[in-house]
Amino acid sequence: MSHKILLLPGDGIGPEVVEPAWLVAQAAAKRHNLTLERSDALLGGVAIDATGDPLPAATLQAAKAADAILMGAVGGPNWDDLPSDKRPEKGLLGLRSGLELFANFRPAQTFPALAAASSLKPELVAGLDILILRELTGGIYFGEPRGVSVVNNERVGVNTYTYSEHEIVRIAEVAFAAARQRNSRVCSVDKANVLETTRLWREVVIEVHKDYPDVELSHMYVDNAAMQLVREPKQFDVIVTGNMFGDILSDVAAMLTGSLGMLPSASLDSQNKGLYEPVHGSAPDIAGQDKANPLATIASVAMMFRYSLGAAGAATDIDNAIAQVLADGYRTSDIADASDSTQQLVGTKAMGAAVLEALARL
Ligand code: IPM
Ligand code: MG
Repeated sequence: MSHKILLLPGDGIGPEVVEPAWLVAQAAAKRHNLTLERSDALLGGVAIDATGDPLPAATLQAAKAADAILMGAVGGPNWDDLPSDKRPEKGLLGLRSGLELFANFRPAQTFPALAAASSLKPELVAGLDILILRELTGGIYFGEPRGVSVVNNERVGVNTYTYSEHEIVRIAEVAFAAARQRNSRVCSVDKANVLETTRLWREVVIEVHKDYPDVELSHMYVDNAAMQLVREPKQFDVIVTGNMFGDILSDVAAMLTGSLGMLPSASLDSQNKGLYEPVHGSAPDIAGQDKANPLATIASVAMMFRYSLGAAGAATDIDNAIAQVLADGYRTSDIADASDSTQQLVGTKAMGAAVLEALARL
């Protein structure tokens, strides 16, 4: 079996984390008799520099033609002063909406070896396994009207928080189906006490739930959810929420696991075609220094095998290899504990090489 994979390394640490992840992808594919055909395209700041456009037409076309897409990160100080429709982030948002990647899976799991790396007490996060399912192509990120204009001699900013019923139905269905593969509990997060759009969100989620009576459904306001995530994170199984709340809560969830450098993500359309990317950003402060943690991108490759390539065996191999390198004591600086002399501090490349070795030893 051969699969077309498009790589979008992007900006900052993006290329540094995508390269080792690609090597791991190839090695895992080989073990399972799969062939991956690589192509590369420009997205984000590098695309702006080369073409003036954060999402060149050629990139969108290549993305449409690919079976799966592996992305690094976009953005950085070089492009911060551009108008909002020309910023690197616009490239990623255009890709998400252009490919209708509405279901964003952001699992947060604590590796036993990293329980002490979290800013929370180890007992609160040991064994944590939650899934944040974020709606990714609607809500306030895409609502119209939007923009800043001058009204009565002062600047006024407008963004619009909108969800149509069908957008809520399809993400709710994905949430309930995902919960069935886990612990059968969904917590829908909204702000239904204040925002009408999320009042509708709650109503529609309740309607969709009628088809999934075996799954337990609860509701939580987003402010409470943020608090509960740091108070008692293990109470959750699947959290389903809108685009902006999901953006915020998934960063909180990332820190529970010890580092933003550990969190993978998958953004899927209705056919399970997907864009895979680490949840962390382009980290311009450490770019080019071989310091970035590639594990979130490598774990995103595991998700790619599982969700888009139908190769659960390859995915499990990669997950096991990641757990093994952590158990062996390899740490990039974001997850290192200086007081633990059994750990070995490594850079991006060495961490990638350690995963490859662990994979070969499985
Ligand atoms: C994320 C990021 C993006 C988002 C940015 C880079 C546009 O924060 O994927 O969480 O806000 O969705
Ligand atoms: Mg974010």
